[in-house]
Amino acid sequence: MTGELSPIDKAKFVAAKRSVDYVEDGMRVGLGTGSTAAWMVRCLGEMVRNDGLRIKGVPTSTRTAELAREVGIEVISLDEAKWLDVTIDGADEFDGNLNLIKGGGGALLQEKIVATASDQMIVIADVGKEVESLGSFPLPVEVIPFGWQTTKSLVEELLISMDVLGRDTTLRMNGERPFITDEGNYIIDLHLGRIGNPHQLSMAMNQMPGVVENGLFLDICDVVILGFGDGRVETR
Ligand code: 5RP
Repeated sequence: MTGELSPIDKAKFVAAKRSVDYVEDGMRVGLGTGSTAAWMVRCLGEMVRNDGLRIKGVPTSTRTAELAREVGIEVISLDEAKWLDVTIDGADEFDGNLNLIKGGGGALLQEKIVATASDQMIVIADVGKEVESLGSFPLPVEVIPFGWQTTKSLVEELLISMDVLGRDTTLRMNGERPFITDEGNYIIDLHLGRIGNPHQLSMAMNQMPGVVENGLFLDICDVVILGFGDGRVETR
């Protein structure tokens, strides 16, 4: 499954491989999105095909749904599952309180809904994702396309009123066109540098009409499994 891996891919793979220890027969499992989560989906698929593991997977994006089916995992919707035993997903950044920035792959909305509906959320990450404080990675904010420029201006005003360091905001593009999420929305990336009070920022942002959700995952993650390029794994 792995062949010759670069150190970063090895770090992602070993974290993903360790995370499937949390999955037991009969569980309903939230399947994250991104390159690290894709390794985890492949590992689970191998356990389904070779060891007879019986799980039901709830994917967090069309990409993950396709991969899960391809590797032999039974895919159901969140409404069919109602509640999940565990969700395993990647992250763009995590801090010492296990708060996260997610959404680099554009799937933050489904990812947050699925993680919140799970008894446990396990994050798998390469060592480069660990930070002192959140904000170096641009914070994704999913917005309704209608009036997105007005919403963007309101977000910028909020950043000024909250004295946030960086205030540059950009519409995420896919070539010449706006990037469109699985829900048909746009993403505005906030280049903040450092987020002093993530709880306050998240709450204020989600109160704005036009904002659907933001990429701060606060008090949701239970464990981070951190992979290193030399194959070591640590748990936070
Ligand atoms: C997608 C995400 C991903 O989990 C995050 O971007 C990490 O991706 P990768 O594992 O490829 O580094 O939040 O919306």
